[in-house]
Amino acid sequence: MSFDEKKGMYFPSEDIINQSNVKEYEKLYKYSIENREQFWAEQAEHLDWFKKWDKVVDESDKPFYKWFQGGKINIVQNAVDRHLTTANRNKLAIIWEGENGDIRTYSYHALNREISKFANILKSMGVKKGDIVTIYMPQIPEQVFAMLACAKIGAVHSVVYGGFSHEALSERIKDAESRVVITADGGFRRGKIADLKAIVNQAVELSPTVEVVITVKRTGHEVYMENDRDYWYHDLENLPIASPICETEETDANDMLFLLYTSGSTGKPKGMMHNHGGYSVYTATTNRMVFDIKPEDRYWCAADPGWITGHSYLVYSPLINGATIFMYEGAPNHPYPNRWWRMIEKYGINILYTSPTAIRGLMRYGDSWVKRHDLSSLRLLGSVGEPINPEAWKWYYKVVGNEKCPIMDTWWQTETGGFMICPLPVIPLKPGSASKPFFGNEIAVVDDNHNDVKPNEEGTLVIKNIWPGLSAGIYKDRQKFIDTYWKKFEKEGWYHPGDSAKIDEDGYIWVIGRSDDVIKVSGYRLGTAEIESALVSHPMVVEAAAIPLPHKLKGNAIHVFAILKEGATPSRELENELKDHVAKVMGPIAKPEEIIFSDSLPKTRSGKIMRRVLKARAQGLDEGDLSTMEE
Ligand code: WT7
Repeated sequence: MSFDEKKGMYFPSEDIINQSNVKEYEKLYKYSIENREQFWAEQAEHLDWFKKWDKVVDESDKPFYKWFQGGKINIVQNAVDRHLTTANRNKLAIIWEGENGDIRTYSYHALNREISKFANILKSMGVKKGDIVTIYMPQIPEQVFAMLACAKIGAVHSVVYGGFSHEALSERIKDAESRVVITADGGFRRGKIADLKAIVNQAVELSPTVEVVITVKRTGHEVYMENDRDYWYHDLENLPIASPICETEETDANDMLFLLYTSGSTGKPKGMMHNHGGYSVYTATTNRMVFDIKPEDRYWCAADPGWITGHSYLVYSPLINGATIFMYEGAPNHPYPNRWWRMIEKYGINILYTSPTAIRGLMRYGDSWVKRHDLSSLRLLGSVGEPINPEAWKWYYKVVGNEKCPIMDTWWQTETGGFMICPLPVIPLKPGSASKPFFGNEIAVVDDNHNDVKPNEEGTLVIKNIWPGLSAGIYKDRQKFIDTYWKKFEKEGWYHPGDSAKIDEDGYIWVIGRSDDVIKVSGYRLGTAEIESALVSHPMVVEAAAIPLPHKLKGNAIHVFAILKEGATPSRELENELKDHVAKVMGPIAKPEEIIFSDSLPKTRSGKIMRRVLKARAQGLDEGDLSTMEE
């Protein structure tokens, strides 16, 4: 790479260009826009289909687009089965390291056996095509087996992040009406055991649909198992039903693959649905073109499979592309801040994909922890989850990548399935910009009249086209999908992601952040409404407003304005109690940074809390237009 000081841009070396899967952006971009359906049909040809599609996209039920209509495909056929008849069969599919130093590896051949066993066990428990299975697990290989096992038999997985509380878990189990839950006794985090089974036990108490809980043994600590409901995976695995041979179901391109809950402007999390066909094509293509992935690569996406990043770019797309994935169970700084760098060196990782929060967290320990290790295997770096500040970008580039690796800053969402705005290894980079629209995408930044803003002016980010990775909708709530993403630009038919952004004179897109009631904390997505309802569920609180304020490590931190019940007195103890209460109700990631006790909240005449005003006040900034504020 070389740096052009005048332009503030980083240019790829000949080396990078020569080995890149895609050598040029502009021409292919133009082609993909002018021939969008053709472009996606060509990409779909990279995959195995039981039956080819009749129509690239069926738009008869907007905005519920049906990609590759009429096609028959199963993502597992592409991620696993098709590798078994090639030389890939014997190469590693998964390398896993536990926080406590345990190591396990699986070839594609072995991975297929594990998935098939798991799939047969699920079948024996009565799981059928279309059933939704909830998965609540630590980062262990069985989490991946469980996901793929569901997909293999045409069942739907709903993975819930292992850091969520039992209440959050049960809310998701109930919405999905899961009969079967898959978990583990626990996982290791910072040398301690996260007691997942105890949380599942509590959640299941509140979830009447659950009949079967399958538990994988990871930590070996004592857990409560209920007769006729709880089964140890290692017991089931030894029964004759757990045959390592299982046919992959011929699912329809528009059959549901998974459900993943994410936060929005309303209190209830939304179950975003993704289907086998379009999702396979979109994730595989973006992963191949942007991460330039090759079968000989060892690729590490350091996200948890419990989030969309883990689904799309840890599990599915790198396996579809036949690479070796690396997975790590625990904390990045355990037992020392060189844990990640040691593993990259040890396993010869070629591509690292992580978040700005993780980078900032490791950056604060200084360069020497990194420099102790030979990271020359790294070829490409990635970032996702929130805007990356140029300081963190430069550290990642210089210290981790040794000024050799392009950084793919990828902007996307749970809803989009895969990268929407991102560079390619061959295009010049500007630190802090997610660069350009991915192929097929027309992306703009508009003002309140829906016109393009001038270069470098802030506005609303919109996506003007459709793409195969787009979510198939919100589970059991058609209208909410329409209202949340398509209402605002109904006339134009544009997708509204809820972010604000700028575009500079070179066409580089700079995402600023959420412009709705969503807060990004350490890259995690939380709804202000969920945080606020957690607060008012405490007997001392009558009303609350949550806002994000900038935080050095987390990007944003949650600050809460709370109105207390008559007679309650603000105190340091109460502040701590309320913080703990939110963490208990939602999970530790939602714990507020600060609680500000207040007598009233600024509201519009229609009664909506003006969070923008609270934010400005808290930062000592101009409060802006107050004409809609109630007297
Ligand atoms: C929101 C979506 C998609 C995987 C992880 C998050 C923010 C995501 C970037 C980026 C600036 C980003 C946006 C977006 N975001 N990536 N590279 N630069 N902002 O998925 O939890 O659905 O959150 O994350 O605000 O709307 P998610």
